[in-house]
Amino acid sequence: MTTQTGYRTSRAAGARPLLGHVPALFRDPLPFLRSLAEQGDLVEIRLGPQRAMMLCSPDLFHHVLTDTRHFDKGGPLFDKLRWFLGDGLGSTPHEVHRRQRRQLQPAFRPDALSRYLEVMLEEALSASSGWKDDAVIEVEQHAYRLIARIITRTMFSADGSSAEVASLAASYPDFHEGIGRHMRSPFRLLDRLPTPANRRFRQACSIVSQVVEGAIDARRHGGTGPGHDLLALMVKEGMSDREMRDQVVTMLTGGIGTSASALGWALFFLSRDPALADAVAEEARVVLPAGAGIDRDALGRLDLARRVVTETLRYYPSAWFFSRAVTSPVELAGRRLEKGTAVLLSPYLIHHRPDLYPEPELFDIDRWLPGRRAGMPREAYIPFGVGSRKCIGDVYALTELTLAVAVITSRWRLEPLPGPVPRHLLEPRPWTVIHPGPLHLRLRGRR
Ligand code: HEM
Repeated sequence: MTTQTGYRTSRAAGARPLLGHVPALFRDPLPFLRSLAEQGDLVEIRLGPQRAMMLCSPDLFHHVLTDTRHFDKGGPLFDKLRWFLGDGLGSTPHEVHRRQRRQLQPAFRPDALSRYLEVMLEEALSASSGWKDDAVIEVEQHAYRLIARIITRTMFSADGSSAEVASLAASYPDFHEGIGRHMRSPFRLLDRLPTPANRRFRQACSIVSQVVEGAIDARRHGGTGPGHDLLALMVKEGMSDREMRDQVVTMLTGGIGTSASALGWALFFLSRDPALADAVAEEARVVLPAGAGIDRDALGRLDLARRVVTETLRYYPSAWFFSRAVTSPVELAGRRLEKGTAVLLSPYLIHHRPDLYPEPELFDIDRWLPGRRAGMPREAYIPFGVGSRKCIGDVYALTELTLAVAVITSRWRLEPLPGPVPRHLLEPRPWTVIHPGPLHLRLRGRR
């Protein structure tokens, strides 16, 4: 139905008795999301007994995320994350959030980001230094390790080679998989069954908690530590142990899986396009000659690597699905939404609308040439969200990813293994973030 506002609203086709659209969302979420965009601008779906509104148009997406009077954190996906994230920046209601964001923002200001550059470069260089010519690697595992080392070194001044950082990196895939499964499961009982997957998830949660609590404890009782990392900032702000724990877990959860999966995908796309990979490598060799340092100026000259990252985050925006709840009755797209209505948002859905991105299934970094991007609505590219809850780590993530793509590609050619790749290995796995399947690539050193 087209409402007076000109928006099309509908009920999504294909609801199953009792479960609604949960099977579609579980089994084949990405095609399901793409199909919703064809059904209207505001489409009602059912998640078990609950009804939720999916936003399929970029301006509705923008509207909901910037109207903090009627929409706040909440909804079925969010509630399932909250028990572990606690009252960290990503979870608190707007009135608490404003204070928290002010407290934490200094760790993401341009001066802080400039300080992180050298660590990011150093880690990107050492990530592949132990690789052997002709060896086969599973890419995402390496991406997790690299990203976990960068965030723990820059934000918490951790010793990147410590056992804690290694176990954190190793447990995050199980952690993300578990959260994603719980977020989509309609019945809480399923989450409590002692299945192997649920056990792995519980164990991953307890490792993450232990490492984080250990780091906070060490900082509180081992002296002040470096004066300018995120832990120091939180101590200076007078946060309690509980507040610090929630903020650190939030940063790690927001910052590891998202960037690691994006790096995995970027390297995957480059492995499918050797000419593009050669060009990225050549650019990196010119901008980052061996032994040279890095500054923001050099970073700005990594144009190809940056466009690879931008297009990767269009194609597979790591944070592919999140939610809001209506806090007081409101009209949206000509439909009245009552307090408590869940609203669902998917950057993936918007990024794959063919009217916004011609041939959306084509990985094409030239979409991001200045001439071509000029005509695109600003709201159409939203991998980091919009408004006051926009990702605090957006520039940080783009920086680490651009450097990692440039440095790794300048040293190694990553080749697909010969023969057809089993389809299930290339199917994206949308958990809390969209992961590649286990992705094995052969290494060829560049001379
Ligand atoms: C490719 C990498 C990343 C992507 C795609 C991404 C995406 C997002 C998105 C879409 C949101 C908004 C969610 C919402 O509105 O409900 C968000 C929020 C957030 N992200 Fe990221 N993120 C990335 C990397 C990072 C990094 C590196 C960090 C930290 C170092 C981080 C920390 C956070 C935090 C703390 C929030 C909550 C912000 C707030 O509510 O004020 N993210 N992220």
